[in-house]
Amino acid sequence: MNPAQARQRMETLRAELRRHDEAYYRKATPEITDFEYDVLKTELADLEARFPDFTDAASPTQTVGDDRAPGFVEVAHRQRMLSLDNTYNEAEVRAFHARLARLLETDDLRYTVEPKIDGLAVSLTYEAGRLVRAVTRGKGDRGDDVTANVRTIRTLPHALHGAAPNAVEIRGEIYLSAAEFERINAGRAAEGEALYANPRNLAAGTIKQLDTGEVARRKLEIVLYGLGYCEPQTVRSQTELHEQLKAWRLPVVEKLWRVRGIDETWAAIRELDALRRTFAYGTDGAVVKLDDMARQRDLGDTAKAPRWAIAYKFKPDTARTRLRAITIQVGKTGILSPVAELEPVLLAGSTISRATLHNEDEIRRKDIRVGDLVEIEKAGEVIPAVLRSFPEERLAGAAEFDLFALVGGKCPVCGTGIARLEVADEEARGVAWKCQNYDCRAQRTGRLGFFCSRRALAIDGLGDVVAAKLVELELVKDPPDLYDVRVETLATLNLGTVEEPRIFGEKNAAKIVAAREAAKALPLEKWLYALSVPDVGESTARELGRRHRSFAELEESGLLRAVVRKAELLARRELEAPASRKNPAKSEGDKARRKELCAQLDAEIAGLDAGVLAGAPADIGPVVAASVLEFFAGEAGRRLLAKLGALGIDPQGTMAAAGVFTGKTFVLTGTLPALKREEAEQKIQAAGGKVSGSVSKKTSYVLAGADAGSKLEKARALGVAVIDEAELLRLLAGA
Ligand code: IVH
Repeated sequence: MNPAQARQRMETLRAELRRHDEAYYRKATPEITDFEYDVLKTELADLEARFPDFTDAASPTQTVGDDRAPGFVEVAHRQRMLSLDNTYNEAEVRAFHARLARLLETDDLRYTVEPKIDGLAVSLTYEAGRLVRAVTRGKGDRGDDVTANVRTIRTLPHALHGAAPNAVEIRGEIYLSAAEFERINAGRAAEGEALYANPRNLAAGTIKQLDTGEVARRKLEIVLYGLGYCEPQTVRSQTELHEQLKAWRLPVVEKLWRVRGIDETWAAIRELDALRRTFAYGTDGAVVKLDDMARQRDLGDTAKAPRWAIAYKFKPDTARTRLRAITIQVGKTGILSPVAELEPVLLAGSTISRATLHNEDEIRRKDIRVGDLVEIEKAGEVIPAVLRSFPEERLAGAAEFDLFALVGGKCPVCGTGIARLEVADEEARGVAWKCQNYDCRAQRTGRLGFFCSRRALAIDGLGDVVAAKLVELELVKDPPDLYDVRVETLATLNLGTVEEPRIFGEKNAAKIVAAREAAKALPLEKWLYALSVPDVGESTARELGRRHRSFAELEESGLLRAVVRKAELLARRELEAPASRKNPAKSEGDKARRKELCAQLDAEIAGLDAGVLAGAPADIGPVVAASVLEFFAGEAGRRLLAKLGALGIDPQGTMAAAGVFTGKTFVLTGTLPALKREEAEQKIQAAGGKVSGSVSKKTSYVLAGADAGSKLEKARALGVAVIDEAELLRLLAGA
């Protein structure tokens, strides 16, 4: 993988992980299993280690997932709430011990082993023994104040029993029992409401309810296991903390193993695995903590997790059942996804009748056929996945899966012909069948839901069910049509059936109207992302938003045209190269002509690089550029822009305002003493300057740090001004 590819992949992984973080922490509706999530995260961490130039302090590998939601007051934690490093195998647990033994220069180490509760983290503050505050983990340093909701937890004392410190933060996990989960979901099913996927999501969704009465009706529970800020602190070990929590009469983990050395640690983990299904809460792993708190402090923390603890995640539960049928769902980009319809089977405490199958190639690779006995897995209790089939037990006559034949070559929603898509699109994972009709009802619904999602325009309250209804009633074709739907229409929307109506209501309708108004002021980058322009992900949208003032400018973008033009020139250059092997020169005359042509092409390329393309980001390659230009020149794009125009919505780009560096081009080389490369780039761009990758006569300044290389030499040779970080900061300060 070359650096450009690595950077692209890292951006993609970060965007994807952020999306999953959002789904898990904020919306409590994860789309992938914890295990799949960890696989993505490990890939990103590996790339970051290999390509340190592209590290990012805001990367999901460096931060804890953010659970904050609107409507709550944010409160700072006195001591940060961290996450835990995860492992899935014994060797890594042993490596953890070996690392601690090396750092602490002894392998005689005591640990506690306790259940890893599958709930949501909370920090309780008791002052003078009284519960004063309960705050979610948030983004680690500050979270949402959920005190009123936490006070409804019946098993939680509002005062500590016996002597208490002046102030203490006690950390723990809020959860729902399996029985309570079933009870609430059964009620929702009766009401025709969407079901929660698992107890953890339901608990997370409940704690983020603004209606405390509703929270009280759902019997949340809590278990406490950790210490944050504590004044004065008397406990010296994890074991003592556990005893102290019990003495205060707080609910604690059902069992805690106190062990010495790694072999006892591993034995305790095995015992815990055998016992965990009997616990009141879902247990998805074991947490191993160094017992001695003085040593914990010596080891300290990384950016997101303590060095003195590790979580070992248990293998997900699996079950066998029969694959009854494969049905097809159509997403916002028109991609057809197969879904497994299963003989209902009990798995990890709930009945499963559907599972994801990803795509056709995967079904073929795993040789899964309708009628097969299959093994399904439910990790982290999200939507289960089909792991494998058992071809040896297959009934005769089972045909290989053929998506095209199954749907008769047509989109199952709108009946338009489908086409095979051969792109490197991450969501499609390489290969997919796609509905060709941009106006397909399924695509429209998907785009509307996406338009309103948090990362897009954050029109909260407009979820998939409402989106589907608006599209079904043809009230919305393109997402901006949402602005034409009257508040009365929204309020009277029936999301249920004629026999069992479920009316959306005035309160919800008013919420949407307020949110859509607020969205009008969002910047170009958000709108661009929200409109589902092909190939435009979040980071591309951001880059485009920074380099254009409006949709009108983007539609005619000189930058994008230059990117496309340069790709054409490079292709031509390769073809015409006098020494081309594919296309050898036919004669001396031909060679001379081609040499001259190549010189012309080179000159034009250099002109583009030094001009329009100076500082152009790697994100915007020729495929993206062509795709954006084509989209806005095409029918769908024109329709969207006309609609926005008619609505008077004209989102503004965050293009660098004129500043001290307007018209100046910078090239960075070497390592700066204080600023990271991206930080320096940002400062330059924020002041109106451009950053380019190569030095030319047009370069205004070369910003050089330690170990600067050939760019510095070239700058000197061309007589370009060379400055250091201090000088840059002086210039920025206008001195
Ligand atoms: S210790 C600073 N102990 O797992 C140490 N965490 O994946 C972190 N969790 O954010 C907390 N059970 O919300 C600890 N027995 C346990 C736990 C536990 C569940 C959660 C906690 C943490 C997350 C990390």
